[in-house]
Amino acid sequence: MENRKKRIFSGIQPSGDLTLGSYLGAIKNWSAMQEEFECVYCIVDLHAITVRQDPEVLKRRTIEQLAQYIACGLDPEKNILFIQSHVPEHAELSWILGCYTQFGELSRMTQFKQKSQQHADNITAGLFTYPVLMAADILLYNTDCVPVGEDQKQHVELCRDIAVRFNGIYGDVFRIPEPFIPKMGARVMGLKNPLNKMSKSEPEGCVFLLDPPEVIAKKFKRAVTDSDMEIRFDPENKPGVSNLLSIYCAITGKTPQEAEAEFAGQGYGTLKTAVGECVVNKLTPIREETEKLLADRAHLEEIYRMGAKRAREIASETLKTVHEKLGFAAR
Ligand code: TRP
Repeated sequence: MENRKKRIFSGIQPSGDLTLGSYLGAIKNWSAMQEEFECVYCIVDLHAITVRQDPEVLKRRTIEQLAQYIACGLDPEKNILFIQSHVPEHAELSWILGCYTQFGELSRMTQFKQKSQQHADNITAGLFTYPVLMAADILLYNTDCVPVGEDQKQHVELCRDIAVRFNGIYGDVFRIPEPFIPKMGARVMGLKNPLNKMSKSEPEGCVFLLDPPEVIAKKFKRAVTDSDMEIRFDPENKPGVSNLLSIYCAITGKTPQEAEAEFAGQGYGTLKTAVGECVVNKLTPIREETEKLLADRAHLEEIYRMGAKRAREIASETLKTVHEKLGFAAR
């Protein structure tokens, strides 16, 4: 096996504006990995259209997401940053892998069950085969490790099953990837409903990366806590307070115990203000850098074209091997 850095692949859908959850749960960890690993980070627009998107909004979010990846510290030279639809190998391999995936397996996916309830009037084949496209994303790049949130673990496991099955028939074609679920900040909960993941579908409890400081401060001031008065990290019994503490810890690098000690004897108001401030301090330079990047479209276009070119070099090799193994006539 060739001697290379381990490869990481991950992606985020441009179906909503990036949130504090996407930053702390994903992008912040990605930028910490760029030295040690060879990283491929994708803006998964093909996945986004599994539910209906407004074309203008989709386009804006795709570009904004790229700018935000960079503003969060992902270096477009060190990492491969690209837009999924620019690399047609994803859709091609997805078709092929779909022929090695069982209907029953896809029917069991938790996210499919949830989303088909949410979009009951538009349960498309694309929504159903979403995990197959995700498997194609991962397998095209001989990925070793896939950093994802807990909610995507089942999809990575399905990807492994598909890869193992394919390899079982055709020999060692795909590298079998491992999911990687970061501990701290992996699950940022909503500020209004700390029992649910922070989500754009509950915008009042959701902090967006591009929110202005006063909006962020207000959202934290209105964060739901509980009726006793103790600042203690206890996600089970005190989800709201614990969520505030874990956001604080994810940003400052402190442990929950250190944070508890720091806030001991103080009121919830103080905690909310302090966490709000530290989030504002973290996000302000990111927002400013994003705005700067967005002002130079041509530069961003150059970055995503370069990313797609580099991605395609890897993806087309993998797809070529797959075609050979399947017995497709050489092109
Ligand atoms: N399904 C992932 C999500 O919604 C996004 C995604 C698509 C992804 N392809 C991927 C994540 C490949 C990791 C690897 O969060």
